[in-house]
Amino acid sequence: MRIAHISDIHANYGSDFNNSTFEKAVKLLNGFEADLIFISGDLTTDGLLREYEFASERLSIIKGKKAIVPGNHDEKNLGYKLFPEFFGNTDFIRYDGNLTVIGLATSEPDKADGRLGRNRHRLIKRGIEKKKDLTIIGFHHHLVPIPNSGREHNIIEDAGETLDIILRNNVPLVLMGHRHVPYAVKIHNTLLVNAGTFSCNRTRAHFGNTFNIIDFKNNTIIVTVIDVEKGKQEKMVKYNPLDGCYINRYYNEEKKID
Ligand SMILES: [Fe+2]
Ligand SMILES: [Fe+2]
Repeated sequence: MRIAHISDIHANYGSDFNNSTFEKAVKLLNGFEADLIFISGDLTTDGLLREYEFASERLSIIKGKKAIVPGNHDEKNLGYKLFPEFFGNTDFIRYDGNLTVIGLATSEPDKADGRLGRNRHRLIKRGIEKKKDLTIIGFHHHLVPIPNSGREHNIIEDAGETLDIILRNNVPLVLMGHRHVPYAVKIHNTLLVNAGTFSCNRTRAHFGNTFNIIDFKNNTIIVTVIDVEKGKQEKMVKYNPLDGCYINRYYNEEKKID
């Protein structure tokens, strides 16, 4: 099974959105023929109706099944009322074969901060209880600080409680965005993965525009970062949730992951 994890599209009519990068990225993305495309928020920049229309039109060229959660930018200017019209429920549990996908809105209207709250914690527990082979949780804000993304801010307010539920239940994979850089780290038995920005001009240093391809092969999760401009693929993490074996190339440039 293959999941494409993309984030922070920032469709708008100002300087945030780079349409030629978007089209390049979609061409690459469609070539991977992922079983699911998880989009972890910030589809727009100001949550405006014209931006939602634009984002929806642009996303239509991405082939495949999509699961989408809102980001803080999508909730601006009453954008939280528009999100369900264009992209469906902001919080959901989806069962697909042996897969459970739990999508959650961490954003609050007109605030950059993220939080989940007790109702969403209950939703996580409900999704986990189904005990499918694989449970994936995705939301916009980050649960742990993301290196190389600037000084820490906007981490989920109730990150401690959220992380506690996730770690206690050995959720194998959590997908996040917001910081515009790719990153992955394993804590206990959980792989936390951040996607960079797909098509926003606000990139960080040389990270550029990227997205993640996550492959599940022989009980192993492999996260590959795709650099859109360079068309380059770099394996970032390989993790076996069964034996706990974990190789993180992010910390060791010399180490090649096969
Ligand atoms: Fe963003
Ligand atoms: Fe964001």
